Amino acid sequence: MNYSGVLSRYGNLLDLPEHTTPITLLEGDTPLIPVPRLAEDFGGGFELFVKYEGLNPTGSFKDRGMTAAISEAVGRQVKAVICASTGNTAASAAAYAARSGLRSIVLIPQGKVATGKLAGAVAYGAQVVQIQGSFDDALSLVVEITQKHPLALVNSLNPYRLEGQKTAAFEICDTLGSAPDWLCLPVGNAGNITAYWMGFQQYNTIKKTGLPRVLGVQARGAAPLVLGHPVENPETIATAIRIGKPARGEGALQAAEQSGGRIIAVSDEEILSMQRRLAGEGIWVEPASAAGLAGLQTEIQAGKLDPKKNRIVAVCTGHGLKDPDIITRQMATPTILPPKIEMLEEVILN
Ligand code: F0G
Repeated sequence: MNYSGVLSRYGNLLDLPEHTTPITLLEGDTPLIPVPRLAEDFGGGFELFVKYEGLNPTGSFKDRGMTAAISEAVGRQVKAVICASTGNTAASAAAYAARSGLRSIVLIPQGKVATGKLAGAVAYGAQVVQIQGSFDDALSLVVEITQKHPLALVNSLNPYRLEGQKTAAFEICDTLGSAPDWLCLPVGNAGNITAYWMGFQQYNTIKKTGLPRVLGVQARGAAPLVLGHPVENPETIATAIRIGKPARGEGALQAAEQSGGRIIAVSDEEILSMQRRLAGEGIWVEPASAAGLAGLQTEIQAGKLDPKKNRIVAVCTGHGLKDPDIITRQMATPTILPPKIEMLEEVILN
């Protein structure tokens, strides 16, 4: 049998300390799904793929970085890990901590974490603390407390998180045979965009795979990297990226600049509309995950990005099941019928 997560598949390319003790849930190896109808909608003449990261063990891309961060923490005999999170990091940290027998503590912004994420963190046994404030407030607390107490910080400030997350770039190149022309993805705390850029650069150095241009997409109400200054009270329906002071902001700006790409913002309506459009392809993602494609669409429609003959990859970071409320809140109650064939015929055949 072939048991392999990202550390065993790409471990020789990751800068992890000697003491790292692999803890895996067999994350990674997610599909790169062609979406030709969506490409036609955007004007056609190019290839478009979704890197569906919602198919990782806890339903988001965070598992790639978490396997690395937790493996390192276990190797130096840490007893507990802690993170601030809009939800997905919390669920992932809790799962990998559970897998290794470590205690996990997660700080989340009160009332702003989607049901599937909170349920995950609780199910995996994390101690969940709600902070009366934003993700940014929670992250400052985590940084402060880890400086005073022996708790391992597993936010993307932890460099091993980025080492694990860059494996997604390796996978894309391995599948396509080279880097795509553009990579589009949502940006929140900016660890993921930073890690992708590291990964593409490293692969290009060793395998001459070329480099993509990177389009990072924030939500308009939480777009510090577009505005050029922190946002005190970030607001967006895409709670995963409701972040006003991205810890890896510098890395994101560098990825955009060095790659010849950019960071832009899209509205909540554009995000939700793209979420529905993707579901129409059978790919249900959480709102934040649709931001990359929403950004690509607006850039193409505004004539700012010519996709012709390009290969474009959009990263869809989290599964739709993470945030079911966004759908169920607006949905009409499904029809209720007695178990009678005539009535069923009436309802579905007329
Ligand atoms: N998409 C999803 C589904 C996320 O959960 C996040 C971040 C991002 C995109 C943005 O990634 O922060 O590396 O720029 N979620 C973090 C969390 C903040 O706590 O789960 P980023």
